[in-house]
Amino acid sequence: MRVVIQENYENMCKWAADYIAAKINNHKEDRPFVLGLPTGSSPIGVYKELIKKNQAGELSFQNVVTFNMDEYLGLPREHDQSYWYFMHENFFNHIEIPAENINILNGMAEDPVAECARYEEKIASYGGIDLFMGGIGVDGHLAFNEPYTSLKSRTGLRDLTTDTRIVNSRFFDNDPEKVPAQALSVGIGTVMDSKEVLVLINGHNKARALAATVEGGVSQKWTCSALQMHNGAIIACDEAACGELMVDTYKYFLDIEKKERL
Ligand code: GLP
Repeated sequence: MRVVIQENYENMCKWAADYIAAKINNHKEDRPFVLGLPTGSSPIGVYKELIKKNQAGELSFQNVVTFNMDEYLGLPREHDQSYWYFMHENFFNHIEIPAENINILNGMAEDPVAECARYEEKIASYGGIDLFMGGIGVDGHLAFNEPYTSLKSRTGLRDLTTDTRIVNSRFFDNDPEKVPAQALSVGIGTVMDSKEVLVLINGHNKARALAATVEGGVSQKWTCSALQMHNGAIIACDEAACGELMVDTYKYFLDIEKKERL
């Protein structure tokens, strides 16, 4: 696992956007570059940087196919808290990307289980995901894979924990009851099958989750810890999130990254 520690949120986002842009630009195969994407406040700065690069003509999304991590069950696209709406507001409406290259789970599907199976098949039809960018919740959930979700899980329906509904209620008039109780989400197994995974972890409130991701044992209690078993996992974080890391761990990763740049 690589842990890239940046001074602040802004630098973390710049680093992540540069990394993603380089991967897309260096992709020389005929098939499209397949990019997994998250919602949440963590990736917003990365989206801003990617938009700038696209508008400056430094990065093209013409040969990029995207798959989003998750979607609330029962929210239509037009709902301002649907992840479809979030992605268009914060990213897709500002870049040039063919609409047919965008994939987001349909939270209004008549048969959500079939919708999740279709999603897995579609990912497979492109030969899998090249790079999955993610964020995590304060309880370490990756996509909507809450604590105790199987580390081998595939795309499916998830029950949201009370904790997550309370945290996400900030977008629903501060009323946890208004937060949908279920969501459609890629599985930990789906994320683990990606060639690379880049997870953004920033802010004091993610310090415990960062320590669990990097230093804790691999456990279904912290689904993000599965990344320790991935060969191409990168955590991009800011100083504020490092508060619960051991001093040795913190120094080790700073040191290693310095060497990688030499
Ligand atoms: C939601 C999403 C996750 C996201 C998490 C953290 O629960 N389903 O995919 O990673 O929120 O969000 P934030 O980045 O706002 O802390």
